[in-house]
Amino acid sequence: MNPLLQRLQPYPFERLRQLFAGVTPTPALRSISLGIGEPRHPTPGFLKDRLCDAVQSPDGGLANYPATGGTPELKQACATWMERRYGLKLDPAKQILPVNGSREALFALAQVVVNPRQFADGTEPVVVCPNPFYQIYEGAAYLAGAQPWFAPSDPKRNFATDWDSVPAHIWERTQLLYTCSPGNPTGAVMPLDEWATLFELSDRYGFVIASDECYSEIYFRDDAPLGGLEAAAQLGRHDYRNLIALTSLSKRSNVPGLRSGFVAGDAQLIAPFLLYRTYHGSAMSTVVQSASAAAWLDEAHVVDNRAQYRAKFAEVTPILATAMKVALPDAGFYLWAEVPERFGGQDHTHTPERDTVFARELLAQYNVTVLPGSYLAREAQGYNPGANRVRMALVAEAAECAEAARRIVSFIQAS
Ligand SMILES: Cc1ncc(COP(=O)(O)O)c(C=O)c1O
Repeated sequence: MNPLLQRLQPYPFERLRQLFAGVTPTPALRSISLGIGEPRHPTPGFLKDRLCDAVQSPDGGLANYPATGGTPELKQACATWMERRYGLKLDPAKQILPVNGSREALFALAQVVVNPRQFADGTEPVVVCPNPFYQIYEGAAYLAGAQPWFAPSDPKRNFATDWDSVPAHIWERTQLLYTCSPGNPTGAVMPLDEWATLFELSDRYGFVIASDECYSEIYFRDDAPLGGLEAAAQLGRHDYRNLIALTSLSKRSNVPGLRSGFVAGDAQLIAPFLLYRTYHGSAMSTVVQSASAAAWLDEAHVVDNRAQYRAKFAEVTPILATAMKVALPDAGFYLWAEVPERFGGQDHTHTPERDTVFARELLAQYNVTVLPGSYLAREAQGYNPGANRVRMALVAEAAECAEAARRIVSFIQAS
């Protein structure tokens, strides 16, 4: 067995299952889950039609192996979207690659970029991650033979990641950095000056930046979130050196089951990534490629989807704000709320865990599931920046989310 497998941590939902073992939710109220970040708005009809048409098509269909590099039709559609969304002209042949959702690509990229044998003294290289973070970054780092280093998000600066907290000796060993904008779970969007800092560090220490942008189309401010490649172009980095952006249809188009996204950026990274993927066997089905091309070319369903989230967040956030510290995020579909102190624990301390006590009692008394923030972060430099917070995914329909919010308020007021 590969010994690195032992480094993998239990997934947050497994920890949630253990936390809830033995809890019997009140039967008086039906169950509402804000726990899992899976989009639940309906998949647009034209995408389902396109999938069915593609299955029947004599020259598409299921009768041939798909090419790992993707069909010209899909790559062109991705390039068209990048131009419309960010004003960037990319070469679809060299700067774009379809992937089976951003999750597998986030993982696979580390296997391509990390060189576990770089340091002659046997020291492991480092992958820098935000904290809290999407769990795949950590597992990808471990299995690539690297050590993750967690940089905390700062609640006083709109949850921006404190990249300055990373010491120089860590940067010297860093080969890859994950950043997530809009962030899961914080919803924070990285501004241009933060990008400038990261590019400067990447130039100085030679690491690759993987920019996870899968929530980019769900936002609550007037301006659409700045993309990583867009930031690079604004700063004159037109070759996107050492930068890969990863995006996905899952949230944008409500198709988490389609498994479709793409990566874009530095052609010097896309080429070895394609080589790796050819061996790994991660080509996207031609049927999925066909539907994906249609999805990237249509914006009307995305505008409609965003409007639904905006209405939902506008309704739910003020209800919750009457009882806990919570604010409308820049983007994404999560609320990252602070659990009131009466549920235990000091700021930044671990025991008793305020977030887990809150989640367990909320389920027992009001049959609402939320995810403890400490499960989405790691204890690093002496504290867990997710402790004392919970993540609420507003993915269900508006009435259900509002009902959950009212129950949470009653729960806090009664505690
Ligand atoms: C931050 C973040 N990145 C990536 C993903 C993966 O999404 P997908 O593989 O569906 O593109 C998720 C899914 O929840 C996520 O929250």
